[in-house]
Amino acid sequence: MPRERSNWSQMAPPLLLLLLPLAAATAPCAHPAYPSQPASCPAEPVLAPERRETHGGGRILDITHYYREDMPSWESGAGVGQFLWLPASMRNGSLANNSEMRMPTHTGTHVDAPGHVFQHYFDAGFDVDTLDLDVLNGPALLVDVPRDENITAKTMESLHIPKGVQRVLFRTLNTDRNLMWKKEFDTSYVGFMKDGAQWLVDNTDIKLVE
Ligand SMILES: *[C@@H]1O[C@H](CO)[C@@H](O)[C@H](O)[C@H]1NC(C)=O
Ligand SMILES: *[C@@H]1O[C@H](CO)[C@@H](O)[C@H](O)[C@H]1NC(C)=O
Ligand SMILES: *[C@@H]1O[C@H](CO)[C@@H](O)[C@H](O)[C@H]1NC(C)=O
Repeated sequence: MPRERSNWSQMAPPLLLLLLPLAAATAPCAHPAYPSQPASCPAEPVLAPERRETHGGGRILDITHYYREDMPSWESGAGVGQFLWLPASMRNGSLANNSEMRMPTHTGTHVDAPGHVFQHYFDAGFDVDTLDLDVLNGPALLVDVPRDENITAKTMESLHIPKGVQRVLFRTLNTDRNLMWKKEFDTSYVGFMKDGAQWLVDNTDIKLVE
């Protein structure tokens, strides 16, 4: 009778019993660390993932914040909390590991859709699918913002960001204060003031702010 795939776990014990005596009867195989041993056995395949650290000729620097239970969550003192569950695991006999995630969509490093805070943009369908990938990807300028102020029109003017620059990473006091590494949401974070954002729109070519 053909077995169901889910019966694999029940098949495992007899298969193991069959293989164990075989393994015991075979001479040990050569290993780079023990070259004196016979080289007759086929090399054990070593499973090692390839970590892709470059893309398009450049080195990847991942500055995103990976999800942690104790990372801050908007207006919460308790952090993100548990966001990952494993209802099915191979270790427990399931065919595959299957995880479940639940968290606010504004957790960690993320982009906001234009429709996030403007109803008329939302109604007109400005979702994340409308974002331009050419704006999101490419060289960016890293600028240090004076640590004693939020980003106002005056701040923007003082930064002298050249025309033509499309993407800017603003390094602020938030980094110095390690705000993303504190569980409690801190409302005193530094950000753009309205006149600073307006100055950026009126006087620069910046399309991406981080
Ligand atoms: C596996 O099953 C045991 C016993 O039911 C349970 O305690 C454990 O949490 C399960 N683990 C996974 C990863 O599913
Ligand atoms: C499946 O889940 C188990 C239990 O958490 C874990 O030990 C194992 O590494 C996971 N395997 C994969 C392929 O994710
Ligand atoms: C920036 O603005 C926030 C909110 O008004 C305020 O709590 C914070 O102290 C300001 N930061 C600086 C460096 O001025």
